[in-house]
Amino acid sequence: MSEMTDRKKLYIETYGCQMNVADSEVVISLMQEQGYEVTERMEEASLILVNTCSIRENAEQRIWGRLDVFRQQKEKRPGTRIGVIGCMAERLKEDLLKREKAVDLVVGPDAYRALPGLVEQVESGQNGVNTILSREETYGDIMPVRTGANNISAFISIMRGCNNMCTYCIVPYVRGRERSRDPQTIFREVETLAQAGYREVTLIGQNVDSYRWRTNDGRSYPFAWLLEQVAQIDSRLRIRFSTSHPKDLSDRVLEVMARYPNICRHIHLPVQSGSTKVLKAMNRGYTREWYLNRIDAIRSHLPDAQITTDIMAGFCSENEDDHRQTLSLMEYVEYDFAYMFKYSERPGTRAARKMEDDVPEQTKKKRLQEIIDLQNKISAAVKQKAVGKTFEVLVEGSSKKSSQQLSGRNSQNQVVVFPKGNQQVGDFVQVRIDQATPGTLIGNQVESK
Ligand code: 5AD
Ligand code: SF4
Repeated sequence: MSEMTDRKKLYIETYGCQMNVADSEVVISLMQEQGYEVTERMEEASLILVNTCSIRENAEQRIWGRLDVFRQQKEKRPGTRIGVIGCMAERLKEDLLKREKAVDLVVGPDAYRALPGLVEQVESGQNGVNTILSREETYGDIMPVRTGANNISAFISIMRGCNNMCTYCIVPYVRGRERSRDPQTIFREVETLAQAGYREVTLIGQNVDSYRWRTNDGRSYPFAWLLEQVAQIDSRLRIRFSTSHPKDLSDRVLEVMARYPNICRHIHLPVQSGSTKVLKAMNRGYTREWYLNRIDAIRSHLPDAQITTDIMAGFCSENEDDHRQTLSLMEYVEYDFAYMFKYSERPGTRAARKMEDDVPEQTKKKRLQEIIDLQNKISAAVKQKAVGKTFEVLVEGSSKKSSQQLSGRNSQNQVVVFPKGNQQVGDFVQVRIDQATPGTLIGNQVESK
């Protein structure tokens, strides 16, 4: 064997959502057990893995671009193996090998335990493909190897897959059915992180509100229960969660949040559209009125919370009036932040099979721009309201713009920047806000209250 394969170095790139970040941490854990060492330098890797996203056409475009770069690397160092893992691997399966000859391995999100065996298979000259989806796999017993920028904040996967079947969405096809992770393994992971000095954990899943652990004796434990248990582990450990689905966000979850100050005052609640007609076409399972009722419930249980969202412009059948309803809903809710997209048809989804992608590209663009412009105005106004207030901020590191400034987030998940003193990464500090931009609060540390 060549010197290179003896050294077994893994280089991994991760695209897409937080679930992919968490999955890459599981993959690293599995590969380290096989003697792989993680490297930040692609040039010295014996194995290159790319954890992929399929959510929109442009997410996949970006990955094809990366595969060009990996192919060139392989040409320079024959013997380098390339694996595509995650959602795009699941969607394209063997076709990926045909479309990009440099790829050796294709592994879907539920098949990571098979990775070491497949890598061996590749070493013996075959390709390695496993895109079998599972009804049970949660990787609950695997302690992920953390890859975050600091040792302060970590993602913990609590459930996988999705049963919602929104008509535009590829996720149920690439991540399979919904399943919840054994709570004991979640508690153990939280405790381990807290003992290691972590100050914040984010419980993640495609739809955390439909978390439900079922025991053999017929009892079942919902997300509100899990959240409360986790909040009790360490009162100085911040708890976040994502993503919530408006149809499942219960008052009980809001009540638990209100009772525990260490559960952060932030809810990411993707709305997609403000029009009941479009929501129905999307099969979202709620109306505009239901969504606004959830917003009112958040405001009454958690008056100091910030709400963020995902919005899509130009879904099938959306007309000007539907679009106006999205804008008016945004004004009502006053989102602190939004991820905003143009609808992009995904092969195999119900919308692709049954509905006409009938909003012209130009119209999609124009509507998206109106949504972005409005959100910028709203973000600026929401941030402005924080001026004069004091927040507890978890220090995460230097600010992007200046090494003389520190950056962190408040409970509301807003980024706060302030001048560096003798604070350490991982400290909780009180910061009074003096200025705001649409994306950032700027202030100064004040004495603890
Ligand atoms: N086109 C555009 N955006 C999409 N999203 C999901 N599917 C599509 C699609 N086909 C957006 C939704 C979702 C976010 C993760 O991505 O807003 O909440
Ligand atoms: Fe992308 Fe969805 Fe897969 Fe996350 S689950 S990586 S958003 S396709």
